[in-house]
Amino acid sequence: MFRHCVFAAVLAACLVSCADAAEIGEKKSILLVAFGTSMTDAAGAIESLVSATKNAFPGVEVRLAYTSNIIRRKLKRERNIDIPAPTEALALMNAEGFTHVYVQPMHVIPGEEYDDLKSVVDAFASMKGKYGFAHIALGQPFLSNGPDCELMAGILARHLTRGGKLGPNKAVVLMGHGTPHMANAMYSEMQGALFRLSAPVSGRIFLGTVEGTPTFDDVLAALKKTRVKNLVLAPFMVVAGDHANNDLAGAEDPESWLSRFKKEGYQVESYLVGLGQYPEVGKLFVKRIQGLME
Ligand code: CO
Repeated sequence: MFRHCVFAAVLAACLVSCADAAEIGEKKSILLVAFGTSMTDAAGAIESLVSATKNAFPGVEVRLAYTSNIIRRKLKRERNIDIPAPTEALALMNAEGFTHVYVQPMHVIPGEEYDDLKSVVDAFASMKGKYGFAHIALGQPFLSNGPDCELMAGILARHLTRGGKLGPNKAVVLMGHGTPHMANAMYSEMQGALFRLSAPVSGRIFLGTVEGTPTFDDVLAALKKTRVKNLVLAPFMVVAGDHANNDLAGAEDPESWLSRFKKEGYQVESYLVGLGQYPEVGKLFVKRIQGLME
C-alpha cells in the first residue's frame, strides 16, 4: 500500500515535470482581426463589430488584433495603446490555455493583409502539442465570392435607401481601398452586383477605389452617362478613417474626390460612416462567425 502510494506520487511528479498534462475541456475564444486605424473617432467602427460579437457569443472570450504594423506602432508611440499583431495575440491565447480559436477578419477583400493573416493561422494550425491549439479556424473577409457581393450590395442598397442617400436624381459614390493584388477583382464583382440591385430601385450606387480599379475616372465616366447631378460620397471600407476623411471628402485637398466632383459641376455631400458602423453589416459579421464555429 505504502509502496504503491510512493510509486503514484513519483509518477505524478514525473508527469508534471516531464510533460504538462493535456488541457482538460474546451476553452473557446474568438480573435477578431482588423487592418486597424490610428484615428480615435474611426475606431468606433471596429469597436461596434467587437461589441456585436461579444453580444452574440456571451461566455466566449473575444479579442482584437490589428494586421497593420504601422498603425500598431503609431498607437503605441503616440498614445501608449497596445494592440497586438495576430501572431502575438494567438501566442498569448495559447499561453492562457485557450484550446479552440476562431479567427475572423474584418477585412473587405482577401488581399495581401488576408494572405499574411492566413499564413499565421496556418502556422499555428501546423503546431502540434501544447503550443498549438486543439482547433484553429480562419473566417473569410466580407467579399470572397460572387454571392458575398450580392449580399453586401443588398445591405448597402437598403441602408442607403433608408437613409435617404439614394433617389431618382441622386447617386452614391463609394470609395473602396483597392490593391494590385488579384483580389482587387472583387471590386468589379461588387460594382456589377450594385448596378443590378440599385439601378431599377432608386438611383445608382457607383464604386471606385483609391489604390486599384475601378478608378475615379472610371466612376466619373459612368456617372456622365446618367442625368444624376447630386452625389453622396461614402467610404466602402470598414472604418471611415484617413482615406475617407482626406482622399474622399477632404475639402481643402484639390485632389480629393469631393473637390474633383465639385469641379465637374456635381452637388456633393459626404456620408462618412464606415461599414463596421452599419448595424446590418454587424449582423452579417456575426453570422460569419457563427458559420465558422459550427
Ligand atoms: Co491605404
